[in-house]
Amino acid sequence: MNDMLKTTPDFSIDAAAALLAEHYGLSGTLSPLASERDQNFKVETAEGTFILKIVNAAEPEVESDFQTALLAHLGAHAGDLPVPHIRPALSGASLASTTGPHGVRHRIRLVSWVEGRPLAETERSDAALHALGRMLGRFDAALKGFMHPGALRDLDWDIRHAGRSAGRLQHVAAAEDRALLERFLTRFAAIAPRLAMLRAAVIHNDANDWNVLVDNGDADRISGLIDFGDALHAPVIAEVAIAAAYAGLDHADPIGAAAAIASGFHAEYPLQEEEVDLLYDLIAIRLVTSVTISASRRSHTQDNPYLAISERPAWTLLRKLDRMNPRFATAILRKACGFEATPGARAVAGWIARNRKALAPLLERPAATYPAALVPYGDPAHPMTVTSAAGQPDAAQAIWEAHCRGNGIELGVGPFGEERTVYAGEMFVSRFIEKTRRTRHLGLDLFMAAGTKVFTPLPATVVSVEIEKEPLGYGCLIALRHEPEGCPPFVSLWGHLAHEATGRLKAGERLEAGALVGEMGLPTENGGWAPHLHLQLSTDTNLSATEILGVGEARYLDVWAELFPDASTFAGIAGEFYERHGRSHEEIVKLRRELLLPNLSISYDKPIKFVRGEGVFLIDDSGRAYLDCFNNVCHIGHAHPVVVEAMAKQAETLNTNTRYLHDNIVAYAERLTATLPKELTVAGFVNSGSEANGLALRLMRAHTGRENAITLDWSYHGTTQELIDISPYKFRRKGGKGPKPHVHVAAVPDSYRAPDDWPVEEHGKRFAESVAELIAGMQARGEGPGFFIAESIPSVAGQVFLPEGYLKEVYRLVRAAGGVCIADEVQVGFGRVGSHWWAFETQGVVPDIVTMGKPIGDGHPMAAVVTTRAVTDSFNNGMEYFNTFGGNPVSCAVGLAVLDVIEGEDLRGNALVIGNYLMDAFRAMQARYDVIGDVRGLGLFLGIELVTDRRTKAPATEFARAVSNGARRRGVLMGTEGPHDNVLKMRPPMIFSKRDADHLIAVLEETFADVTRTLG
Ligand SMILES: Cc1ncc(COP(=O)(O)O)c(C=O)c1O
Repeated sequence: MNDMLKTTPDFSIDAAAALLAEHYGLSGTLSPLASERDQNFKVETAEGTFILKIVNAAEPEVESDFQTALLAHLGAHAGDLPVPHIRPALSGASLASTTGPHGVRHRIRLVSWVEGRPLAETERSDAALHALGRMLGRFDAALKGFMHPGALRDLDWDIRHAGRSAGRLQHVAAAEDRALLERFLTRFAAIAPRLAMLRAAVIHNDANDWNVLVDNGDADRISGLIDFGDALHAPVIAEVAIAAAYAGLDHADPIGAAAAIASGFHAEYPLQEEEVDLLYDLIAIRLVTSVTISASRRSHTQDNPYLAISERPAWTLLRKLDRMNPRFATAILRKACGFEATPGARAVAGWIARNRKALAPLLERPAATYPAALVPYGDPAHPMTVTSAAGQPDAAQAIWEAHCRGNGIELGVGPFGEERTVYAGEMFVSRFIEKTRRTRHLGLDLFMAAGTKVFTPLPATVVSVEIEKEPLGYGCLIALRHEPEGCPPFVSLWGHLAHEATGRLKAGERLEAGALVGEMGLPTENGGWAPHLHLQLSTDTNLSATEILGVGEARYLDVWAELFPDASTFAGIAGEFYERHGRSHEEIVKLRRELLLPNLSISYDKPIKFVRGEGVFLIDDSGRAYLDCFNNVCHIGHAHPVVVEAMAKQAETLNTNTRYLHDNIVAYAERLTATLPKELTVAGFVNSGSEANGLALRLMRAHTGRENAITLDWSYHGTTQELIDISPYKFRRKGGKGPKPHVHVAAVPDSYRAPDDWPVEEHGKRFAESVAELIAGMQARGEGPGFFIAESIPSVAGQVFLPEGYLKEVYRLVRAAGGVCIADEVQVGFGRVGSHWWAFETQGVVPDIVTMGKPIGDGHPMAAVVTTRAVTDSFNNGMEYFNTFGGNPVSCAVGLAVLDVIEGEDLRGNALVIGNYLMDAFRAMQARYDVIGDVRGLGLFLGIELVTDRRTKAPATEFARAVSNGARRRGVLMGTEGPHDNVLKMRPPMIFSKRDADHLIAVLEETFADVTRTLG
């Protein structure tokens, strides 16, 4: 007999009933309840049901005082909590006392009965466990301000003393079991010092599944928390760990159970990240404490079944926890509490999204530029899935290749998160959830031919290079670590590669962005799959390559998505690849036909629906990116962030007309005129190139009082009637009515097509003779020219570069005859030629009026006219000039932003360098392709004239069209231009890089080779 048994109360039911009457004035039916140390009776009276507790005499008074004070505190401050509430004795005291049969004094307490079934006997739904967490959270929140000397007890159940379990290991018989416990004790020893740094308060400390009661009628509702015998001052997180340890017993998903409790607790009493980070170990160590105390007591008390009640399930749970990756368990728990699955996880995906334009292409060219399709692994019945799952990679590959050939597909994509049935092996059984398989693909698969090279999009350090030999494993597997500035470090995993990489890369080696990582492997090397790359990111850099989960449980996809964010953006796949929005092409074509002017044309026989622009790329509704070498409006790149920001900022501040004072219009006029020769000092702002040319004509008329126009053949100056009238490109073609009497058409000064007997150095002068003749004709009729208008590089006429001296001579002639000279820089201005801001400068002239548009606002509709003081003085004739939108603060903010970028990033310099590089490449092609008659260009204004015969210069119109269509098929946009549509026209954005240039060259090479083969 030990002391405890002598002090254990041993009252008969009658004696207990007498105590009840004496101290509480109550009578009723008493029934004994099990208790380890005290004696408890359920008491049913007319006034309600209670528990009469007769306290073990050995319990220090301070402890029963503590429990009483705790219950009194909860009664006073959290009266609605479903915990026992004290019924005071007749004396008014919370505790009464009596002397028992052994002559020792026992204290007595009467508390209200809490109704419900023990959690241990219920289903433990997520809802119930969440509710349990909430209740514990409220409970602990109510105790934040509570303290009592009795709370400072020395209990083996104090989680801070869990290390004492080591001293009890001797009572555990099996060596294997001891080793299991030792593993958790070692982990605990590493984290124990951190416990001292965590918030501590008085907690229940024993919310086990027998002390938690569930509503009899509603299994999702917690109806009570009982037994405060283990309460003490301890780290708050222990409350959650203990409840989770017991809720997880015999639970199919113990971490899910813990997550439900933690999230409930967190909702009422926010947990801290460092607390949640310890939860997995604290859950485990509570179980270790439990099984070692049971073992120890069993060795003292010969198998007391009460002590062993939770032993078997505790061992089972410990073994399950041991098989899990603790980092994944912690990620699940963190996520349940609203924290990142691992610190920095969300920032990585955000950084990649923001910096996607700066990433080097993972494939030879940006991945989004390849015609791509989903690989059908998401469809369990698809023959490719079936053959893959059956271990027949060659058959699967043959099916895929046939599909690609039939549909022009070059890249297969296996998306992140896809539910797949191909993961048949034992290795895909979940370690978290019983009877569950891992089925969700957590990487991004890129399917291309074996041997396809893959490159790192960011600088990297090689973490590991290894070969996984298991069938359906990764084959050659490489992990790289990336540490970009402003982004938490992360790892990229490259699986199913060819083994050649093992001989080439070593751990610790540095790779530059764009460096070769490896090649897609053959099935014999890649684990037995159709050739592809499994690319995966891990925001947890502590995981080794083989720990990174390639496939995960559907239930925790949200957790995996943070630990292993979708690598699509990193790989350069556009979001639109996965999700189409808006109307179908057919529907839009139909609605255009019904609702819009019928003569709006659509490019290409099979029209493209673009949904996004980004830098040099336009992205269609299937996520395919096209290298835009044609659309010169987005001068500094599509959706340039500086422009977008300037526009948004001004739009949210003010947009109004020019009748009020504003800084932007004068600032922009100052900056714009500063780019022009000193004579051109006055600006007028409008909304389109047509409007700019229209205003130029008004200025001209006011200044000269004349109408007569001299315009170049095949030119286009705008869409209003008076501009159509001076655009032979329009009035001479379908629907045109020929030239009006005041319109005089001069020959296109196209050196390539100049008569053979003209010496090259005389081309300028000779072509100018055409203008001289027109003037002479007017003068013969007693008239004179009002103006001469020309694009400084006639583009519609086929990227025609004016011969040297041409404009000098023409301007001289026109001015001598009293006319003004208008330079249309709507296409060619704003530094496109690189050497100068304005293309007319290459001719050494200064126009009287310059019109500008398209590139001026990088896509924002604005345009301008700049002229001389003399011309504007003539225009200022008393009639007000008003333009509702022209020169508004938003447009001027945009214009300023465009100039800032051109100047700040030296885009003119870039245009010249890249333009020269392209010209060299085109000339090299000209040496190989007879069809290339002429290569013309300056900066990023480029043309390739195609001819069927270099001698006769017969236009190769069909070839040009085939090249344009072939380039489009290969993801590059260009146009055809000129009277015979035989000039390939290219005007890529000024940010065009060498890499973009190489892309364009490669596509042109492929396309020329292809068209040459097919057209002969
Ligand atoms: C040389 C030239 N001038 C003027 C215009 C008319 O500009 P907008 O279409 O902005 O009215 C164009 C348009 O294509 C053009 O190419």
